[in-house]
Amino acid sequence: MQKYNYISISLDGAAGSGKSTTAQAICQKYKYIHVDTGLHYRALSLFFLNKNILPDLVPQYLLYDNVDLTSQLEEFSVKLFVDGIYYSKNELRNERMNKEVSYYARIPEVRSLLLKYQRGLVKYGFDLGFSGIIMDGRDIGSVVLPDANLKVFLHAEIDVRQGRRLSDGEHDSISKRDNIDSTRKVAPLMCPNGAISINTGILSVNEVVSLISKHISSLS
Ligand code: C5P
Repeated sequence: MQKYNYISISLDGAAGSGKSTTAQAICQKYKYIHVDTGLHYRALSLFFLNKNILPDLVPQYLLYDNVDLTSQLEEFSVKLFVDGIYYSKNELRNERMNKEVSYYARIPEVRSLLLKYQRGLVKYGFDLGFSGIIMDGRDIGSVVLPDANLKVFLHAEIDVRQGRRLSDGEHDSISKRDNIDSTRKVAPLMCPNGAISINTGILSVNEVVSLISKHISSLS
């Protein structure tokens, strides 16, 4: 097995599958940089909503207007600024954004804007001296980082995932989002080829992390 100095890991899964918790635990353990691409889609959606631009009109907007995407590091996570604006997690993770985000995320022009930015974050983490990157989302192993050193797909039954959202105090129509995310034409939610698939509904966070750690040990 080839050994790497800087490891790239894709972490895909539906809403509530445990991506953020797992990514943060792995990043703390291995000094990796964390990229939460769900926040990218949420931030762009809010950017357009604040301008009263409905999803249908986004392609036209992007044809004529440049949207500047820049990054700032906070501990081991990347903060995205859209045209210089940073949206807090409270602004992005709420019932309204849970309802809206998938309609913006299925627009090909939005995805290609973020694709370029997200791929650039691999070098960003390397240049900052991290020993790897873990990027979570829906299309990371399939589209954004198809050559990731390790691909992980997390899944759990819908009632388990819904329960996690409720215990976080979040109202989230998970099954509706799952449906839009997995049936869209461009970069749908899927288990990427070559990914290790983990059912987080039957394992503790520690068990999930140690399973992934075993795979990381064989790479580094
Ligand atoms: O992960 P999170 O629930 O914050 O993602 C919000 C939404 O962003 C998803 O429901 C999906 O519509 C979109 N998304 C995506 N591709 C990604 C990450 C998120 O389409 N890589």
